[in-house]
Amino acid sequence: MQTRVALYLRLMKYRSFGKTGFETSEIGFGAWAIGGSWGAQSDGDSMAALHKALDLGVNFIDTAQGYGDGKSERIIGKVLKERSEDIFVATKTPPAPGDWPPSPYDSMEDRYGEAYLRSNVEDRLTQLGTDRIDLLQLHTWTRAWNRSPEPFAVLKKLKEEGKIRFVGISTPEHDQNAVIDLMRGGWVDSVQVIFNLFEQEPAAELLPVARETGTAIIVRVAFDEGALTGKWPRDHEFPEDDFRRHYFAGDRLERAVDRTDKIKPVAEAMGLAMPELALKFALSHSAVSNVIPGMRNVRQAELNCLVSNERILSSEELQKLHLHRWNRAFWYGGK
Ligand SMILES: NC(=O)c1ccc[n+]([C@@H]2O[C@H](COP(=O)([O-])OP(=O)(O)OC[C@H]3O[C@@H](n4cnc5c(N)ncnc54)[C@H](OP(=O)(O)O)[C@@H]3O)[C@@H](O)[C@H]2O)c1
Repeated sequence: MQTRVALYLRLMKYRSFGKTGFETSEIGFGAWAIGGSWGAQSDGDSMAALHKALDLGVNFIDTAQGYGDGKSERIIGKVLKERSEDIFVATKTPPAPGDWPPSPYDSMEDRYGEAYLRSNVEDRLTQLGTDRIDLLQLHTWTRAWNRSPEPFAVLKKLKEEGKIRFVGISTPEHDQNAVIDLMRGGWVDSVQVIFNLFEQEPAAELLPVARETGTAIIVRVAFDEGALTGKWPRDHEFPEDDFRRHYFAGDRLERAVDRTDKIKPVAEAMGLAMPELALKFALSHSAVSNVIPGMRNVRQAELNCLVSNERILSSEELQKLHLHRWNRAFWYGGK
């Protein structure tokens, strides 16, 4: 087992995280499910999964207040106290209570006012058990605020005060391109975006702009919440307390499974398992810094970390995968 771990460690690759000067692992740890809303999840499994990912070279973790109201952050803080490596932790501040995503009529002052941001950042520091946050991302946004994005001026002050190192934004799912003006305006160090075998629209503009501006790109939801792993039958049932019961409501699961089934033979011809193909696709764009699959147990951590290796998708393979893009609009679920 020790030999296998050593082998994995040699395999993990690292990329520049935008212009920050940090090199982060191609595979980061997506920490939503370990906070809750995904059915039964034991803290023991969560901690073991995170330890395993760190053993295998992961040095980037993504979490948020919203993942169990600080529970995911607390688990991460606890695990990191047991480790000696330097790990880059990204968390997120949600807008003050109201519509999700924010309505275009909402005032920035009401949702991301200075007093609110300051007290929320203090809470993030407490939950994580740290005195500086590596990356503070605003969890969602509306393009209505682009003309004068004052919350980022507040976050800049918090940077200068040493509370946070870098600032980012996570795209609103229904309007991911809303953040392009923020990249061009130099407001953000990083953008977190959905880019997967179904959702390929970011390749049109968002990713090229990230490359031009040197903005770090974190890819989330590479498995489309699990569908792109290809493990479910069309009639799979989610537990009551799993947000995917809503995300895949009605005929959504059947449609996602049918689409995935069409990709399976393509993956097989490439000699890749579906989860591997999904992560490699996310990493295939040169603007991408890392991909952050959710990992709920040791097995998933091992499988996902192993995907960072010398095997990259060729341009011919990518052309075949481009045919599987799916403009389905976004399915809000569980938020
Ligand atoms: N708005 C935002 O900013 C936002 C929204 C969503 C996510 N995120 C971030 O992005 C991260 C990734 O997204 P996600 O966790 O929502 O979804 P995801 O990465 O698309 O899917 C993760 C889920 O797939 C299953 N899985 C993982 N590895 C697998 C493997 N090798 N084989 C089979 N199944 C596997 C696990 O669930 P099961 O075993 O239960 O199937 C896991 O929880 C999150 O953890 C979070 O950090 C951010």
